[in-house]
Amino acid sequence: MTMQRPFPAATSSRLPDGVTIQPREFDWHDLESVPQYWFAGNAIISHLENAFSILIPPGERFFIRSVRHYEDRAKDPELGDLIRAFIQQEALHTRAHNQFNASLRKFGVDVDQEIAYAERFITAMGKYLPKKMQLAATVFLEHLTATGAHVLFSVPEVAETMHPAMLRFWRWHAVEELEHKSVAFDLYQQVGGGYLLRVFSAIATILLLARPFDKIARRMIKADPNQITDEMRQQAREINRKVMGPQLRMIGQYFKPGFHPWKCKDEKYLAEWYASAEGA
Ligand SMILES: [Fe+2]
Ligand SMILES: [Fe+2]
Repeated sequence: MTMQRPFPAATSSRLPDGVTIQPREFDWHDLESVPQYWFAGNAIISHLENAFSILIPPGERFFIRSVRHYEDRAKDPELGDLIRAFIQQEALHTRAHNQFNASLRKFGVDVDQEIAYAERFITAMGKYLPKKMQLAATVFLEHLTATGAHVLFSVPEVAETMHPAMLRFWRWHAVEELEHKSVAFDLYQQVGGGYLLRVFSAIATILLLARPFDKIARRMIKADPNQITDEMRQQAREINRKVMGPQLRMIGQYFKPGFHPWKCKDEKYLAEWYASAEGA
């Protein structure tokens, strides 16, 4: 099914051959069919991913604000157009995640409480962190999401345990994260962002965001009246092991002084998705 393309694609010699930043609208026509335990039929993994999804809308608004603050200082018009498409993609992701998050109400999740908590936490980051550090945090979180996107495609035996509607949703989001993964980084470099602030902000961001993620996930698991079985715990550990190895290696690359997001090769996954029925 072809996705709506409400905005033009941004192209640039900064992007690998065949890659553009194309904002696409996700159509949730099958949201009603998504079961509560949509990831491998496993309650733990599904709650963890749902907690991540709750953090995404305020997180993406934080990214947009941090990039907007510096966009006037982009030194070339091409980067300006990539920023435009990046902002449009993130805004469309927020809309689709809001729709998914709202659907969790029918499983008894206190969505309003969790959203309000996530909003408060990330708003405080926007209020108290220096602007350059906010941009550096965005650079890191864009890399983190790109590593998640990479493993979605590189470990298909895990991804394919998702309900088909959720796999379509996460693949769409992953593709766009890969397309725009270097935009915040290139802007950060153009405005004079250095290595030390980049790595310091990455460590600070991990420490800061671990708390709301953990708290939301724990509350969701605790509020779920269904029993978590030992079998589920074992399965969650196995999935984690398959995904975290490659993801941690890619996260480690971020701490090299010569890091650039496109040094992690994702062009193959983008080309495959573009050629698929979803990406056509
Ligand atoms: Fe996104
Ligand atoms: Fe992103």
